[in-house]
Amino acid sequence: MSIKLICAISKNNVIGNENKLPWNISEDLKRFKELTSNNWIVMGRKTFDSIGRPLPNRKNIVLSKNKNLKIDSVEVFNSPKDVIDSYKNNSEQKDLYVIGGTYIYELFFEYCEYLYITYVDKEYLGDAFFPKVDWNKWKLISEDSRYDDKEEVNFYFRDYERI
Ligand SMILES: NC(=O)c1ccc[n+]([C@@H]2O[C@H](COP(=O)([O-])OP(=O)(O)OC[C@H]3O[C@@H](n4cnc5c(N)ncnc54)[C@H](OP(=O)(O)O)[C@@H]3O)[C@@H](O)[C@H]2O)c1
Repeated sequence: MSIKLICAISKNNVIGNENKLPWNISEDLKRFKELTSNNWIVMGRKTFDSIGRPLPNRKNIVLSKNKNLKIDSVEVFNSPKDVIDSYKNNSEQKDLYVIGGTYIYELFFEYCEYLYITYVDKEYLGDAFFPKVDWNKWKLISEDSRYDDKEEVNFYFRDYERI
């Protein structure tokens, strides 16, 4: 059981625009659901707002600096370390998926052992970006190439393990 990061990233490093995903790739959403279901997910408050509801069959954790924030069926934490402590001290056999956005990827990056990246092979307009990664510290363990007809784009599921 481990801490894993999952993100879809465009060719120009965009992950979001105006608090939404810039693309609609149904196979990617399906894979996200398959991987994260029955596990824990942690996201920033803005990403939660963008999704608009807790995702079913997962423990939903939202990170916010707002100490008064309460959301039904969601655990709100104020510090990344508290999330990590809660995960490490639990006895459930689950993975913790770090699901974004930019700030949350940055805060949790050092704890992640695996990266599940969907590389979308096109440039998009955006205002949220994936943090810079030293790819020399990661080993590609699986790659799967796909094409989305509606979005008219090649995309790749790339899984990495920390070296
Ligand atoms: N492509 C993908 O796979 C993917 C995945 C996820 C999200 N996205 C996109 O990313 C964008 C949203 O990302 P974002 O970077 O703007 O926001 P975000 O990381 O989702 O959320 C930022 C919020 O997290 C809280 N936060 C940040 N640092 C904190 C800390 N040290 N302690 C406690 N709370 C902290 C704050 O909430 P408060 O303001 O409440 O204090 C902050 O406003 C959207 O466009 C979304 O669609 C894309």
